[in-house]
Amino acid sequence: MIRSVVVGCGSYLPERILTNADLEKLVDTSDEWIIERTGIHQRHIAADNEKTSDLALNAARAALADAGVAVDEVDLIVLATSTPDQTFPATACKVQAGLGMTRGFAFDVQAVCSGFIYALATADNFIKAGQAKTALVIGAETFSRILDWTDRTTCVLFADGAGALVLKAEEGRGDNSDRGVLTTHLHSDGRHHDLLYVDGGPSSTQTTGHLRMLGKEVFRHAVVNLAEVVRETLDAVGMQPSEIDWLVPHQANKRIIDGTARKLGLSTDRVVLTVDRHGNTSAASVPLALAEAVKDGRIKRGDVLLLEAMGGGFTWGSALVRW
Ligand code: COA
Repeated sequence: MIRSVVVGCGSYLPERILTNADLEKLVDTSDEWIIERTGIHQRHIAADNEKTSDLALNAARAALADAGVAVDEVDLIVLATSTPDQTFPATACKVQAGLGMTRGFAFDVQAVCSGFIYALATADNFIKAGQAKTALVIGAETFSRILDWTDRTTCVLFADGAGALVLKAEEGRGDNSDRGVLTTHLHSDGRHHDLLYVDGGPSSTQTTGHLRMLGKEVFRHAVVNLAEVVRETLDAVGMQPSEIDWLVPHQANKRIIDGTARKLGLSTDRVVLTVDRHGNTSAASVPLALAEAVKDGRIKRGDVLLLEAMGGGFTWGSALVRW
């Protein structure tokens, strides 16, 4: 059986840091409120001349260097973003050009904060189908560009960044001892499209628009949907929560992450947490968290990782990966 084995990862965070104290000067909020409700202390914000493709390119180069894979070997780029440089072409094609890659194919997927899980599942399926052998999977966002900086209910939450993985097709045994993506599970429910959305777009207002969210409602759905998809994922491969080495969740809110870990019976020292320093970087949050925990030596070869995310749409999903 063909498996998509992760052979490298990388990430990029813009230099500029925005603290909760900085936000206190912009809107009626407090460091105490933000930490208590979300766990966020600070976040990174892209420079004026940095676009999503620039962030993505930096993360992609770092991932390829980590993997020791040459650009010529890559035959697929799947890039998850809801903040593309332009309406079209796909940001993935700009990354392809930036890497100097002249073969293969590149496209974007858009599933908001679940984007990286969607991109990973997409690339995994192309690899399993034999249509690609080496894939770059990227999550990259400049959410600072779509925030309403006068709306305290949203501007304190989201931020910018990028993360990337390199996948390679390898022959596996077809059981849970294989390295690589063991299973992926995607869901959406468009009935809730108006609980987390951007109030603009080419076909409606011809403007970019700003992010709008009914936070309490999103929170309520997130807790239920994530618990369900995590159970579905473990059931699909017949694994117990105790077999998970690391939970690498989407970093939206520490309270949601703690709730998911508690339901799985996982102690906090088996959860990769970056929301305190990164905020919610949407499709970039899972690969950013992954890259951090790999770099600092927490995630080791052979570890079982449960990745999960939920976002606007609603969309949600998970992936079980043996590193
Ligand atoms: N600073 C200070 N007060 C704020 C505030 C801020 N930044 N944002 C909202 N408040 C106020 C509200 O106006 C409200 O005041 P009121 O009681 O006088 O009306 C009060 O704080 C409580 O607001 P509420 O929205 O009920 O808080 P909450 O506990 O639900 O926390 C979120 C708000 C956004 C942190 C939380 O709902 C959340 O994390 N939701 C999920 C968001 C998410 O994950 N989105 C991305 C999914 S990918």
